[in-house]
Amino acid sequence: MKIAVIGTGYVGLVTGVALAEIGHTVTCIDVDPEKIAELNQGIPTIYEPGLGEMMLRNQKRRRLHFTDQHRVGLDGADVVYLAVGTPQLADGSANLRYIEQAALDVAEYAQESVIVVIKSTVPVGTNMRIKQLMLSHVRPGIAIRIASNPEFLREGSAIHDTFHGDRIIIGTEDHETADVLEEINAPFGIPVVRTDVSSSEMIKYASNAFLATKISFINEIANLCEKLGADVEEVAKGMGLDHRIGSAFLKAGIGYGGSCFPKDTNALVQLAGNHHHDFNLLKSVIEVNNHQQQLLIEKMLTRFGSLHGKKVAVLGLAFKPNTDDLRESPALVLIPKLAELGAEVVCYDPIAANQGSKWISAPAVYTKSVSKALNGADCAMIVTDWPDIKRMDPQTFVRLLHEPIVFDGRNCYTISAARKAGIEYYSIGRPDVI
Ligand code: UGA
Repeated sequence: MKIAVIGTGYVGLVTGVALAEIGHTVTCIDVDPEKIAELNQGIPTIYEPGLGEMMLRNQKRRRLHFTDQHRVGLDGADVVYLAVGTPQLADGSANLRYIEQAALDVAEYAQESVIVVIKSTVPVGTNMRIKQLMLSHVRPGIAIRIASNPEFLREGSAIHDTFHGDRIIIGTEDHETADVLEEINAPFGIPVVRTDVSSSEMIKYASNAFLATKISFINEIANLCEKLGADVEEVAKGMGLDHRIGSAFLKAGIGYGGSCFPKDTNALVQLAGNHHHDFNLLKSVIEVNNHQQQLLIEKMLTRFGSLHGKKVAVLGLAFKPNTDDLRESPALVLIPKLAELGAEVVCYDPIAANQGSKWISAPAVYTKSVSKALNGADCAMIVTDWPDIKRMDPQTFVRLLHEPIVFDGRNCYTISAARKAGIEYYSIGRPDVI
């Protein structure tokens, strides 16, 4: 099976590499020649554990190719995956400009009938609109079949998720197209669910919205726990053991970020609104999340009164560990707020440190050394639960901070470890250690 993938962002690159790994011949296409040049040299353009080795292996096997020429990449492709971005527009809806352009490129260069698989997250109804767009531009006699095949991988564990996913959703108009897609994916050995195109598109939004709901729910419970003297970690453990609830995505913290949940929840609210449906539940999920991102600042102001002149060590920039992605990271809200309140900010991140000044215009120093960030600071604020921060002996705060005061947005340490180390410890949904 000859496959082309348009878009070498997160989803596109991982999809292309994984499809080559299971035996297909894949050409990944991107309009950015610099990206393509790097990829052709075997350099992955995103940070993702395990991706580089797999990419190189398949380039050497000559099963994986990269080009910035649509004509070259689409030549003879039986199946074309569209995996371009659908970023958020100012009104919260998804920007479909890139996917439309990719579809027009397919229509222009398709020499034979082709199956177009949409991997990008697109509002319900988009697949069919994209099909119509292609049909109105393709040369006569060429058939276009469409399939919705949403992606469920998480950044930071994308390779693992691709090979160990819970399900592969295939939404098509006909059985033949679903058969082809099922055959392509068979080597993954993951259960396939066949459905119609609209339901497939909705499964993606509903899944992300539900996971975001779980997070906002546990965060609200955490906020209540703080008022009532309960411990949210204990509550989540007790809740998660009920298999109807499940333990995943019940980790309280300073809210969800990243390129998916914020964008997709907003897009679903917007989509519902366009169809005169007021999605109040999801609106509350978003509101809870926005407030949750401010929590550590509120806790600091309660503790210090004013942050003016305080030196704050911010631990973590990325929206979660094992990624260098800063999109919608709570750090983007917290660091400018700290600077606005007159604090001096030194920020540590093991992978994303050099991106700080590109994303945040407020004055701050960025470092890959945790001790440099902590040294002499008045307090620490944990934003990302990087493994090295979680593994760190809380005694380190006593040793390096001016005063051992820690505001932990990710509940990295147990209450007893914090007590034992003698730090003043404010976390999420648990009793303060003073
Ligand atoms: C998410 C989904 O998990 C994937 O299934 C989906 O494919 C992807 O979006 C997408 O639509 O492309 P991702 O954004 O990479 O994946 O990251 P997650 O691991 O889901 O984390 C999202 C955010 O939620 C992070 O900020 C994380 O810190 C937060 N989170 C997650 C919590 O605060 N608590 C939890 O219990 C879990």
